[in-house]
Amino acid sequence: MINVAIDGPAGAGKSTVAKGAAAKLGFIYVDTGALYRAVGVYALRKGVDTKDAAGVSAVLPEISVELKFIDGVQHVFLNGEDVSEEIRTPDASMAASNVSAIPSVRSFLFDLQRDIASKNNCIMDGRDIGTVVLPDAQVKIFLTADPEERAMRRYKELIVKDSNVKYDDVLADLKARDYQDSHREIAPLKPADDSVVYNTTGHTLERSVDEVVDIIKEKTNG
Ligand code: DC
Repeated sequence: MINVAIDGPAGAGKSTVAKGAAAKLGFIYVDTGALYRAVGVYALRKGVDTKDAAGVSAVLPEISVELKFIDGVQHVFLNGEDVSEEIRTPDASMAASNVSAIPSVRSFLFDLQRDIASKNNCIMDGRDIGTVVLPDAQVKIFLTADPEERAMRRYKELIVKDSNVKYDDVLADLKARDYQDSHREIAPLKPADDSVVYNTTGHTLERSVDEVVDIIKEKTNG
């Protein structure tokens, strides 16, 4: 199987670019952030402090997370319920970042990610795919962009759903999440030594997709 790892900070365009590249190559696209978001949403629903490692670990046995691909689109199921929409709120983003720093949560989600990659040609995006989950991936890309541009992209997505969203809050949340994701002890966000670092600042989506497809083809002789 051909496995492509795309890691990078929040709002770098990983999901949009990975989705576009996967469609062009006929690979499945796997968004691993959705798994951490599902665990975060469960903890929020249960009223568990998402930074409390013991509290979150205690509810993990109650959780079943599954990914299903419906018409090629990933849906995430939490105990059988499709939570693909609910996991996209700003509260779910912060909850995901919090629970993702807990080692038991990372090991809980590890096998699921490895299993999908072993059975499919896929582009998997996250924070630790090239460094921890798929260290032998044939292609590793670290996708990034300036924080202000990343916050503006995220703001434009959120404002459609909620007219009270403020750009400054989105930027502050994004910087807090980046800091937390890159400074945690376990599987911190960082480029793998053998990754191609690609900064998409100022690039259109089409250009970013084409460049990522070129990198993948070059590395896989496709
Ligand atoms: O990619 P995302 O914004 O949906 O991810 C949500 C959070 O989940 C992110 O802040 C960090 C965490 N995460 C992680 O730790 N490892 C991954 N492979 C994917 C996401």
